Amino acid sequence: MNEKLYEKITDTLVNDGYIVIENALSPEISQNLHAYINALTVLKQAGISASNSQHVDSSKRRDKTKWLEEDKGIQSEYLAFILGLQNYLNRALYLGLNEYESHFAVYEKGDFYETHLDAFKHSKNRVVTTVYYLNNEWNKEDGGELIIYNEENEFLRKVTPYANTLVIFLSEKFPHEVLPTKKTRYSIAGWFRVDGH
Ligand code: OGA
Ligand code: NI
Repeated sequence: MNEKLYEKITDTLVNDGYIVIENALSPEISQNLHAYINALTVLKQAGISASNSQHVDSSKRRDKTKWLEEDKGIQSEYLAFILGLQNYLNRALYLGLNEYESHFAVYEKGDFYETHLDAFKHSKNRVVTTVYYLNNEWNKEDGGELIIYNEENEFLRKVTPYANTLVIFLSEKFPHEVLPTKKTRYSIAGWFRVDGH
């Protein structure tokens, strides 16, 4: 059922190294995930959950981004889609992807993420990045766009973090940044990895 989309993703990754897909999954998956992250956020802000964690990823990340590391909470349909993609990429491109790590991320007003790569060159760790957005309304003045650059650090693409937009790119090839957001911004960042050697 997802084969056509997997094929498009694979072809575009081969040709361009990155792809931006609007209305990527079913509206139900998008709505369920939005409701889930929204509920998690409310719980954590109320201090009910014990697993609230601050997570500093690199020296370039000086924001107050809150990582909600409840991978298992991701609705199973989303993970089923991801697993299908992993299998398709492995079959088509022999990537040997054998793990997917992901986090719900909440950027509060004023948060940003400076230009960075998700993987160090030749580290073979994070191979393919996915970012899936969960914001039902987003206006120009809300900021928080993802900016994707090429290997020469030239501007490639500006992505509005609308619900159900999925961005996929080769982790070590595309520097990217999140512009300061003017309101709470939800996403799921994930990485296909090659582990175990
Ligand atoms: C990341 C990242 C982008 C986004 O978590 O590494 O670049 O739009 N996220 O949330
Ligand atoms: Ni990143």
